[in-house]
Amino acid sequence: MARKLTPGRLVIASHNQGKVREIRELLAPFGIEPVSAGELNLPEPEETGTTFAANAEIKALASAQGAGLPALADDSGLCVDALGGDPGIYSARWAGPGKDFAVAMEKVTRALDEKNVAQADRTAHFVCALCLAWPDGHTEVFEGRVSGTLVWPMRGAHGFGYDPIFQPEGFDITFGEMEPAAKHAMSHRARAFAQLVAEVIDK
Ligand code: IMP
Repeated sequence: MARKLTPGRLVIASHNQGKVREIRELLAPFGIEPVSAGELNLPEPEETGTTFAANAEIKALASAQGAGLPALADDSGLCVDALGGDPGIYSARWAGPGKDFAVAMEKVTRALDEKNVAQADRTAHFVCALCLAWPDGHTEVFEGRVSGTLVWPMRGAHGFGYDPIFQPEGFDITFGEMEPAAKHAMSHRARAFAQLVAEVIDK
């Protein structure tokens, strides 16, 4: 059975204010008070893992041990089946130093075109690994995914990252065209969070 998270402070191992706000809203009803790694001046460790779970664990443990409090970290990305799972843990890096996701989406599409991958075989999934770590080194990891196909050209202005080319299974619109609340209800991140809440929070 998973170790339970008790009411009190929880470090969010992220310097991204948007992520911290989203997590704060999600956990507020359970008496958990998120504080960001940025507020505590905790350093950002290098993500040297080879899986989403390993990278989430590196970040969560660094914050938990640095702050002496439980900490939560996430790592996510897009895995394209015909590309052997790429860009995967390198999803952010494919956007280059300018963090331009139009460039990253073109790169993915070009790689599929070069391999002559048929539209029906352009399947992909987003993955989100969440790791909760305690200062004594204990960790709990939860993973959520959502499957779909990649389309071209890009469609929609909502969301971020690879959303404009990702059409989730059972839909004929991309995440970029979907209302944010609809995406948030079914995303890889929402699924990982639902597991975390179900397993580590006493209701
Ligand atoms: P990180 O987990 O913050 O390192 O983000 C990894 C990268 O994966 C992001 O920069 C996005 O490119 C991509 N990614 C993760 N989740 C999503 C999503 O929900 N939509 C689109 N792209 C995503």
